[in-house]
Order: sequence, then structure tokens, then C-alpha cells
Amino acid sequence: MKFFIDSANIEHIKEIASWGILSGVTTNPSLVAKEGKDFKQVVQQICEIVDGSISAEVISTETESMIEEGKEISRWHKNVTVKLPTIPNGLSACRVLSNHNIKVNMTLCFSVNQALMCASAGASYVSPFVGRLDDINQNGIELIKEIAEVFHLHNVKTEILSASIRNPLHVTESAKAGAHIATIPYQVFKQMVQHPLTDKGLERFLADWNDAMLKKPSVVKV
Ligand code: E4P
Repeated sequence: MKFFIDSANIEHIKEIASWGILSGVTTNPSLVAKEGKDFKQVVQQICEIVDGSISAEVISTETESMIEEGKEISRWHKNVTVKLPTIPNGLSACRVLSNHNIKVNMTLCFSVNQALMCASAGASYVSPFVGRLDDINQNGIELIKEIAEVFHLHNVKTEILSASIRNPLHVTESAKAGAHIATIPYQVFKQMVQHPLTDKGLERFLADWNDAMLKKPSVVKV
């Protein structure tokens, strides 16, 4: 499973990208608004940091304006993926943009049927929202599993991008459920890399090394 970061914060994206694990970035209007910067500039800056799919979302809701906005956004950089909401006009716009070879990520997906329709409209990615389903007492990971099963059964090529990830367990469970990608917030990446036994083990290795150095410096010299 590939890792994307779900963020529009340049410093956060740079830090996680420096770990060498990122295959892409997703943004949404809320994340971009939080940064208080120019949308196009932010997206282009992100494209310079991460060499992979960079999702940028339209804010129109009418088919024609979604298509125009999508075409405009796609011209910002070759790696831009246009993000559209899973509504009827979003499906229509997805079909048109996909026919123009523009990659589309269909967002705000909450059911298998929505995911199937996104795939039929030519979407490159479909984003089921795990955390927001959990929030309303429905099982978000179960949805990932069901979509993965149905896509596999029907040989659907659209990639499942597990979104609205809230904790490290969501990431593990998304991978087990068959998601191709998980888009993960900065804080969750920080939680994922941390393990008390890693810290304890490293501390011990270095202490043993330093002890040996003190006793027989010539033996352990690097
Ligand atoms: C997906 O691309 C969205 O940006 C994101 O995952 C939404 O997550 P949230 O439910 O935590 O806002």
C-alpha cells in the first residue's frame, strides 16, 4: 500500500517527504483554507516537493464549471490529480475530464455503489472516508474491504485511496482490507513511526557500544 500525506502544510509535507516514503499528497478546501495561502501557489509548491499524484479539489458544484475548474487546475502541474465530490455532477465532470486524460480522484465516497459509479465514470482514484463513517457509528474499514472485494471481482482498475484516516490502526487496517493507498495526516505519520521498544533498543545499543569503547577502544573503532 502506498502512502500519501493528507495536508496542505508545506513544512509538514517536506518533513514526511524527507523520510522517503511518500507517493503522493491529497489536499481539500478545508486543508488549503487553514494555511491561508494562494491555492495555485500551494499546489505548485507541493508538486515541487513530492513527485507523485497531488490531489487538488474543485469548489464548483455545477458540471460545466467543475470541468472548467478541473481543466484549469490540471494545467498547474503534470502531477496534479483533479479531486471531485461524488455527486451526480461530479460523476459527469469525471467522465469528461477522464476522457481528456486528466486524472480524477473522486472524494467523499461513503458506499460501494458510489465507488462503483466513480470507477465507471473513469476515476483514477476513489476516496472512501474511513474516519467520518466511524464518527457516525458505521465501520469505515468494512467499507474499504467491501470496495476492494467488489473491485477485485470485477477487475476494476480504479485505485482505492483510504481517506479520513484518524489513527495508526486505520492505516494497518486499510492495508489489510486491500486499499491501494492511504492518505494520512501528519500527526498520524509521527505516531506510526514511533515505538517504545525501538527507542529502548536503540538506547541500549548505543550504551553497550559506548561501554565497550571505554573498555577496549581499539576493538570497536569504526
Ligand atoms: C481526503 O482526501 C480528505 O482530504 C481527508 O482524508 C478528509 O479527512 P477528515 O475526515 O479527517 O477531514
